[in-house]
Amino acid sequence: ITVGQDDSDFQLGDFPDYMRKEIAEQPDSVTRALRGRLDERFATVRLDGLGLDARELRSIRRVKFLGCGSAYYAGEFGANLVEELARIPADSEPASEFRYRNPVVESDTLYVAVSQSGETADTLAAVEELNRKGGQVVGAVNVVGSAIGRACGRGVLLHAGPEIAVASTKAVTNMAVSFGMLALLMGRVRDLSTADGQRIVAGLRALPEQIQQVVDSESEIAEAAKRCAHADHMFFIGRTRCWPTAREGAQKLKEISYVHAEAYPASELKHGPLALIDESMPSVVVVPDDELLAKNISAMEQIKARGGPVVAVTNAELPQGLADITIRAPRNSPELDPILLSVPLQLFAYHLAAELGRDVDKPRNLAKSVTVE
Ligand code: AGP
Repeated sequence: ITVGQDDSDFQLGDFPDYMRKEIAEQPDSVTRALRGRLDERFATVRLDGLGLDARELRSIRRVKFLGCGSAYYAGEFGANLVEELARIPADSEPASEFRYRNPVVESDTLYVAVSQSGETADTLAAVEELNRKGGQVVGAVNVVGSAIGRACGRGVLLHAGPEIAVASTKAVTNMAVSFGMLALLMGRVRDLSTADGQRIVAGLRALPEQIQQVVDSESEIAEAAKRCAHADHMFFIGRTRCWPTAREGAQKLKEISYVHAEAYPASELKHGPLALIDESMPSVVVVPDDELLAKNISAMEQIKARGGPVVAVTNAELPQGLADITIRAPRNSPELDPILLSVPLQLFAYHLAAELGRDVDKPRNLAKSVTVE
């Protein structure tokens, strides 16, 4: 059971498949995630399900996100935000590895178990390991009463509604939105200013409408995807805040199109991957309008100089002719821009897979919920 579920969640209506429907639903599902949680007056959020008061939140010295696949990448986005807004160390780790390395569990670390289904065996095992060692663990799950939700006993409900397509889209977006709220909350009990808090609250509030703008630009994204559908291999390039965006973009493409896709930070290209660039290897470069814009432009120039086609996914003004294809997204606050730059990558993967005739809802060899090790 997911909160707010009704029959229309299970009906395709005019959509050809669930993945396309779930991408289009994101303005609504993000609205649900935000509902009743934004607190304009104190420039913060209310996340009562966390069960942590201000003093307890202040005593946290580190945050570790644990999840598998896209949930792990969403955790990377969350870790970046916690470091940026709350200025405490944070990271994300594949939950599937956690219990096997006899992890050091510290009492002042907040562990966040991230899972759409709430049933992923590896994530559940990580929570059990934490419970056994007395770690503080909260869930970020979409399904009320799921095994992970119950094992954590408290946390942030994602409110994405039922997700049926194997490739996660609206749940991943709601993970990112939820971690934006968590980071804001942790920042505001520390040193994040009222002005910055207000900026993030306003940014969160603007997301549903801005996501709708991306969804409305679908035909351009579909065209871009068709132009890349001949490729056997692709790079997804992004750095710092948009590194998880690039990783998630590559993941989406791999799982539903079976096209080999690898993510790299732009800064790493010259340390190896540039050797692979030629006319047959498109690079999707995620380019936010942030302090690294000039460096991202330089990375695109390096790819172009080696004959590599460049697809820029951007909210910045880029030099004419730099990208072969440009996919535009609206601007929010720099901290939240990665959410808006991820949605075009979902549509890109979807349309590329559809062009190749794949079964986008049920890709080969994958299950929606991985309840075995
Ligand atoms: C996402 O598109 C994938 N199907 C997969 O990586 C998924 O995110 C992972 O298996 C974790 O699932 P969960 O969120 O239900 O735990």
